[in-house]
Amino acid sequence: MTETIAPYSVAPGVDAALAAYSAPATLGFGIVPAPVMFSAEYRDGAWQPGELLPFGPISIMPNSRTVQFAESIFEGMKAYRARPAPPHLFRPLVNCARFAASAARIGMPAVPEALFLQGIKALVSACADVVPDREGASLYLRPILFSTDPGYSVANSNAYRYMVLASPSDPYSSGPMRARIERDDVRAARGGVGFAKTGGNYAAAMRATSRAVQEGYGVALWLDPVERRLIDEFSGMNMFAVIDGELHTPLLTDSILKGVTRDSVITLAHSQGLVVHERPIAIDELLTDIAIGRCTEVIATGTAAIVTSVSELGDADGRIYRLSESLVSDGLRSALLAIQTREGPDSFGWTMDIDD
Ligand SMILES: Cc1ncc(COP(=O)(O)O)c(C=O)c1O
Repeated sequence: MTETIAPYSVAPGVDAALAAYSAPATLGFGIVPAPVMFSAEYRDGAWQPGELLPFGPISIMPNSRTVQFAESIFEGMKAYRARPAPPHLFRPLVNCARFAASAARIGMPAVPEALFLQGIKALVSACADVVPDREGASLYLRPILFSTDPGYSVANSNAYRYMVLASPSDPYSSGPMRARIERDDVRAARGGVGFAKTGGNYAAAMRATSRAVQEGYGVALWLDPVERRLIDEFSGMNMFAVIDGELHTPLLTDSILKGVTRDSVITLAHSQGLVVHERPIAIDELLTDIAIGRCTEVIATGTAAIVTSVSELGDADGRIYRLSESLVSDGLRSALLAIQTREGPDSFGWTMDIDD
């Protein structure tokens, strides 16, 4: 049952901030902030009414547990717009459930579904004219929950803030990606927080990503944290491979994020008659399959990347495994984008109006 929540207020300056916004010619992905943001505080055991504010700095104590211990979680999702229709959302309740699962893992209070949606819808509705409608463009939405309580003891806080930020964005990637297999660092431990979207996960991944970028790759491909033998996922994206014409993706573990796009792609693939295997995939087996031509595509899926083919996997020993096809990837990408943008029928009921 959805809880009832207090209406949100609109702070002075919101209308002026919206009126002053003018879109730059190039947006990039997640770079340009939308002119307004949503904020609600949790204190004394209860969520306080939310507020729409002009986008800008917030103050936080340097000894807050967010700053000290990364007591923070986030989500990533998108609103799409095909003018003149108002913007709409894609599977926001799945993001909401994952936000709650991430909060539970860190011991933070869940943001009630009604408040989660209120923040998203208030922001998207205020920013309706900010949502770009070029092909593949969207309003990227970043719900965050973080502690505002000071403290050096490793214990949960009593005060939190839920915010929703947004960025009008171009498509994340303009072509196939190159990925570097990370053989040394791990991003998440067994029993740890890899399945949750917590700030610390991403900090653990930064060194490897920087290493990948320095060597000319776009992302790191992570292996399992115990033996570094099985494929987990890319930084920020789940992984699929086309082997003998069938789709294979790593079976979810607690070190893999349960991607909304991964789930959507599996459903879409089934509906297109593709066979999908969710199973542990050994990196060495995949590399052999690429080398002998059995694996024809490696695919990255995520809210930002949608469905993007991977053209190269680079290994630590300097070997490069090249993939030249993207037939399955292209088909899944256009089928998913058609639903996300409502250019095609929403056969699975995945989109949601902002006034629902
Ligand atoms: C580590 C990680 N894996 C996978 C994904 C893909 O998840 P989704 O499809 O929900 O964006 C993301 C992005 O959120 C991520 O950060």
